[in-house]
Amino acid sequence: EHVPVLTIDGPSGSGKGTISRLVAQRLGWHYLDSGAIYRAVGVAAGWGDIDLADPAALVRCTFDTKIDFIEDDESRELRIIVNGLDATDELRTETSGAAASAIAAIPEVRAALKDRQRAFRRAPGLVADGRDMGTVIFPDAAHKVFLTASAEERAERRYKQLKDKGVSVTLHGLLREILARDARDAQRVVAPLRPAEDAVRIDTTGLSITEVVERVLALMPAH
Ligand code: C5P
Repeated sequence: EHVPVLTIDGPSGSGKGTISRLVAQRLGWHYLDSGAIYRAVGVAAGWGDIDLADPAALVRCTFDTKIDFIEDDESRELRIIVNGLDATDELRTETSGAAASAIAAIPEVRAALKDRQRAFRRAPGLVADGRDMGTVIFPDAAHKVFLTASAEERAERRYKQLKDKGVSVTLHGLLREILARDARDAQRVVAPLRPAEDAVRIDTTGLSITEVVERVLALMPAH
């Protein structure tokens, strides 16, 4: 295929989501939030009272879950509809993140979601945000970035985000959750979190959002 892809992978809290959305806007490209797909299956599993320790049931749930991404024309905000219900807010919770991470460790689930993710590749281009975009889903992508940041900084960013939303959490608790999720994502057998060999690594610790966006755009041909 000729449709260009920019993959942006990295651990949770590395700023991938924000950076990917802004870069997609600047380029006028489509945007894939692959984490939202895993989170959506996690939410659907919760609604269906499915045991996170029952892989066969989770695989069935993956096939049965309908996920639609709808972009609000005015706010440009992305709403995520799971089986017909707006799950955007529920998707962002740590519970959904933890469920997603458990589900994402099942090989059949990852295989079942491959084509759904590749379907986002449409002209004029795609910015794909996730953990294995550059390694598994779009290995042929022309542009690959791997974002990192210290665990402390990632916990702090998440803390600020949640506090702004009125969610009560502790910095210490978040740091612990982030470290646990990192370990699980890096150690799993299928598609562990690691940079593609041809990815450009950017450490975002101490950088502003604008600075990171500019560094990513600088890797792209004239836009
Ligand atoms: O990026 P986000 O925090 O929304 O992802 C939630 C979880 O989904 C991650 O912790 C990871 O386990 C899983 N995930 C994945 N592969 C992706 C995107 C997300 O395994 N491409």
